Amino acid sequence: MADPPPSPRDVLDWYLGAGVDETVGEAPVDRYAAPDGKVAAPGRPGLAEAPTPAPPMAPSISRSISRGPSDPAAPPSRNGTVQAAFDAATAATDLDDLHRALAAFDGCPLKKTATNLVFTDGNPRARIILIGEGPGAEEDRQGLPFVGPSGRLLDRMLASIGLDRNNTLISNIVFWRPPGNRNPTTTEIATCLPFVERLVELVDPAVVVALGGPAAKTLLAKSEGVGRLRGHWFPYSTPGMPRPAQATAVYHPAYLLRTPAQKRNTWRDFLGIKEKLESL
Ligand code: URA
Repeated sequence: MADPPPSPRDVLDWYLGAGVDETVGEAPVDRYAAPDGKVAAPGRPGLAEAPTPAPPMAPSISRSISRGPSDPAAPPSRNGTVQAAFDAATAATDLDDLHRALAAFDGCPLKKTATNLVFTDGNPRARIILIGEGPGAEEDRQGLPFVGPSGRLLDRMLASIGLDRNNTLISNIVFWRPPGNRNPTTTEIATCLPFVERLVELVDPAVVVALGGPAAKTLLAKSEGVGRLRGHWFPYSTPGMPRPAQATAVYHPAYLLRTPAQKRNTWRDFLGIKEKLESL
């Protein structure tokens, strides 16, 4: 005898297990459909004519070497998508320019599934920039970083050292929401990294704070977890920066919401950030 059809509850559970945790509209949208209306190849809708990207460079490499295609130290292996991101980011001369360049950039696969581009919030002339992992559901809806529950905790931690979004700039290592809030992949990070680096160059902050493990790995080019990196300071520079910034890592606010026992340490870390800002 055939199995009975799954109940609506089973179907919802199946979607949740696959990372679909919200509905965003009444009508389904096929975000993989070819934008020009071409018929996609069977089994790979919309991807039929997409070039297969070469493996990206390790995210940290493009920061630790000189930037620019004319630079003899530039690695010959930077793949086409990362190179396109790099070229678009490098051409931007201010944050509005960079925002427009990102909006026009189609190289990051996350753009296909996200509702909004999430660029920055705060003051572009801030002395401190905080960079998280990637937008969540609320950020995707509003197009602003850290506006959900972890953003509210971040605001409280900033307030504890006299900071808010008028004197900080907040962003992420990827600019579109990873589906189901999964960690961004190496490819997604690598394609967004030129924009992140250009963002830091244009802001030219005294202090860079990585929020959580993926941001710390990407920005500090370290393999250790936040538990080991927190409380330590590292020089952060790219050849486009007029002077190096001081960078550190703290636990991600979402982790703190799940692990309140670490809040005390993080409050201590924020006092260290305040001291560092005052000393520079
Ligand atoms: N978590 C992040 O890392 N970034 C956001 O913008 C929101 C939640």
